[in-house]
Amino acid sequence: MKTVKIKDKEFELFLTQEEIEAAIDAVAEKMNAELADKDPLFVCVLNGSFIYASELMKRISIPSEISFVKMSSYKGTKSTGKLKEIYGLEEDIKGRTVVIVEDIVDTGYTMNLILDQLMDDEPKELLVTTLLLKPDVLKYSVHPDYVALEIPNDFIVGYGLDYDGYGRNLPNIYKLKQS
Ligand code: IMP
Ligand code: MG
Repeated sequence: MKTVKIKDKEFELFLTQEEIEAAIDAVAEKMNAELADKDPLFVCVLNGSFIYASELMKRISIPSEISFVKMSSYKGTKSTGKLKEIYGLEEDIKGRTVVIVEDIVDTGYTMNLILDQLMDDEPKELLVTTLLLKPDVLKYSVHPDYVALEIPNDFIVGYGLDYDGYGRNLPNIYKLKQS
C-alpha cells in the first residue's frame, strides 16, 4: 500500500517494515554487546511502543526482563509542570540498569517526565531506546542512548504509532501527505 486514509487524513508510505526492522537489528545488536553483563530491565511505555518492544525483544539475546507501563492522561493545572504520571511498574528498579522503550521522542517532553519520575526510584543506570527520533523538534535535554531511526519533522502513523487512536496496526510507517 502506497497510501492510506485514516479518518479525514491521507498518509503516504515513508518507511517499509523491512527498513524499520533492519534498523531494529542494528540497535538490538548494539544493546546485546553493551548490556550483556547488566541484567537490564526493559520498561515498555504503552501504547505506542508495543510493536517496537516486541520486535526488539525477539532480537535481545542477553539475560533481561521486560515490564510494561502507561502514562496517565490525568491533566493537572499547568503550574504543576507534571501533567502525566507513570503507572503500572511493579518491579523494584533500585540499583538496576533500566532501559526505557519508547516508540518516538518528539519534543522530548514525555521522556523527560518519565526519566524524572523513574530517577526517584534510584536505578543504577537509566537508559533510553526509541524506535524514532525527530532531532529537529527536540526541546528537552533528553539524549536517547539507542535510536533505531532519525526522521524529519513529519507526523507519522503505523508500527504502533497512531492518528487519533487508529493506524497502530499498520506494518509500515506512513507520513501525513502535504495537501
Ligand atoms: P513528546 O512528548 O513531544 O516527545 O511526544 C511524544 C509522544 O507524542 C509520543 O509518545 C507519541 O505518542 C506522540 N507523537 C509524537 N510524534 C508523533 C507522530 O509523528 N505520530 C504519532 N504520535 C506522535
Ligand atoms: Mg508513546
